[in-house]
Amino acid sequence: MFKVAVAPGDGIGKEVIAEGVKVLQAACGTEHVELQLEYMDLGSDRYLRTGELLTDDDIALMKRNQAVYFGAIGDPRVAPGILEKGILIKMRTTFDQYINMRPSKAWHPYTPLKGEKNFDIIFLRENTEDFYMGAGGVLKGRSDAVDLELKRKLYDIDLTLSSSSTSADDYAFEIGMMSRRGIERFADYSFELAKKMGRPKVTAVDKANVCTSLYGMWREVFSQKSKEHGIPVEYMYVDAMAMALVRAPERFGIVACPNMFGDILTDIGAEIMGGLGVAASGNINPNGVSMFEPVHGSAPDIAGQGKANPIAAILAGKMMIDQLGRPDIGKLIEWAVKMAMKQKMVTPDMGGALTTKQAGDAIVDLVRSAQ
Ligand code: NAD
Ligand code: IPM
Ligand code: MN
Repeated sequence: MFKVAVAPGDGIGKEVIAEGVKVLQAACGTEHVELQLEYMDLGSDRYLRTGELLTDDDIALMKRNQAVYFGAIGDPRVAPGILEKGILIKMRTTFDQYINMRPSKAWHPYTPLKGEKNFDIIFLRENTEDFYMGAGGVLKGRSDAVDLELKRKLYDIDLTLSSSSTSADDYAFEIGMMSRRGIERFADYSFELAKKMGRPKVTAVDKANVCTSLYGMWREVFSQKSKEHGIPVEYMYVDAMAMALVRAPERFGIVACPNMFGDILTDIGAEIMGGLGVAASGNINPNGVSMFEPVHGSAPDIAGQGKANPIAAILAGKMMIDQLGRPDIGKLIEWAVKMAMKQKMVTPDMGGALTTKQAGDAIVDLVRSAQ
């Protein structure tokens, strides 16, 4: 038996998680594995009603489960950042899910890339640090001090921090910070995964040619860990990486990214596969509670219309079952998704004519047919 906390969240999160749960239940059913689900009311509706984001009770509920199956958050009625930081980022950091794993492989014929390119990339995104640490604010009226010699003065001036800006003299900032320990554990995981999967190298992405302090340390650690693990590291600047992912994704296997660049590159990774509608994501604490979700957000532009592609959520469920120790059930889910794609039983974003529910039902039927 597996115990899973389910948080559908906002917008299409609700629609795609409903289908993901159906597929998980069908796949576990074929193997006589019981899934015990505990539903959570996380997201904008509750926030607007009660002001609550991710509460201590929510965290306790997640802790008594083995994994969290999450939809998406984000709502145009709520200012950007409140739900995202207050729920999603808080969940990732509270459970120290320092690995964000986002696979990207060619789903023929849905990849928009020319030719029959085959690629099979695992993006690993450091998931707790970098520009996501919340080290930001507004320096009130300090343009005099900062204009002269920013770096030196920042150490001397009396910093008056605020959360809002009112004057042209203000500076807003967000600091990208990583701990050496944080990079070390992330690099260890990257090289260990490369070894486990038989991949010949790890590609580490950064912007060490400009952010020399932050990504200088990143490179030092990756070079050291590469030697320790006996697996080569290849460095790519993030701008060149964005280009290379479109031009020659087959060159890459394990791609290790700092948090912010990983966020951006994995939307490219999604698009070259076949779109955000098929991209899954695991927020992993190798020794704790992990959380599985689609890469996409709440998609307010199509929410409530039955247009959302449930495959990303379904494949996130597959990643969850793999991680819970039943990769055989994961394989069954992936097989059914592949078959549905092959038979064009897909939603409009992939050129199909099915609704979210019909696409989910088609995959459930395929899972059952494999018995
Ligand atoms: P988004 O990922 O929600 O949507 C981007 C585009 O892709 C939209 O046009 C959308 O219709 C389309 N799309 C996304 N998923 C799809 C699916 N399953 N099927 C078909 N089409 C799909 O990104 P956004 O519009 O920038 O953000 C909307 C909200 O979601 C924001 O509040 C954002 O902060 C939040 N967000 C949350 C998460 C998350 O919960 N993990 C991830 C990304 C964005
Ligand atoms: C993602 C999302 C989140 C992120 C946002 C909603 C906080 O874009 O999961 O990719 O930036 O990590
Ligand atoms: Mn993102």
